[in-house]
Amino acid sequence: MLSPEACYTYKRFVDKYQKYIYPLLAANLHRRYGKSSGRVIDMGTGPGYLTGELLSRIEGPIHALDINPAMHEIAYEYISTLDHRKRVIFDQADIHDLPYGSDFVDLIVSYSCYHHWENPVRAIRECYRVLKPGGKLFVIDTEPPADDWEMPLRSVIREPEYFAIIAKAFSESRTMQEVERVCRETGIPEFTISEFQFEAEDIVECIDDLGEMPEWSSGSISSPKTWILEIVKQGGL
Ligand SMILES: C[S@@+](CC[C@H](N)C(=O)[O-])C[C@H]1O[C@@H](n2cnc3c(N)ncnc32)[C@H](O)[C@@H]1O
Repeated sequence: MLSPEACYTYKRFVDKYQKYIYPLLAANLHRRYGKSSGRVIDMGTGPGYLTGELLSRIEGPIHALDINPAMHEIAYEYISTLDHRKRVIFDQADIHDLPYGSDFVDLIVSYSCYHHWENPVRAIRECYRVLKPGGKLFVIDTEPPADDWEMPLRSVIREPEYFAIIAKAFSESRTMQEVERVCRETGIPEFTISEFQFEAEDIVECIDDLGEMPEWSSGSISSPKTWILEIVKQGGL
């Protein structure tokens, strides 16, 4: 688990290099979910930015779940500035052992967290257990990058402490084939894993929120592929 200082460094990294992603992610996930109400879990909420973006799109309680109390402190500070903050429930918990009954939640989203899971088979089974029939799970993370990623990225992300965050995430990242193997092992009957890309329509919709897009989002730096795992719990209407 990250130390409290490392959590604050992560937040500063996200604020500088990655914050533009969250409105785009929320727009995309909202469309895939296909509804505007329900109970949601943001699995591994970190600084809480995706939770914040989902709040304004989906009516209903949102569980900002994280294993790390220091991340929760950071998320709480941010969420408490938002209009809909009363709908957020801060659950400090481990994805491998969720504190909810079965058939509890309509939507589970998780961004950039899969590579932390010690036992992804168990983690995905736990998510499936707590989903209501017809409920959806979306997990997004990156593939390992191509061999020549280091130099170009160093030229954009100059702060060694921020570069180290990305280098660690890259070193832990999993290929789509590995995720597929894990999903087969869960025994869950249907799932899809595909490349994830932001849609032009979301960029247009979110343009006011995005501010200046960082250089590494423009395609001039080759960044690794991002994948999305989608699971719908069987038994829904
Ligand atoms: C790279 S951060 C991503 C945070 C956030 N989703 C974002 O995009 O900014 C990964 C987060 O997952 C949390 N995490 C790691 N392992 C976890 C586990 N087993 N159960 C719940 N949360 C976990 C970490 O504490 C951290 O906040």
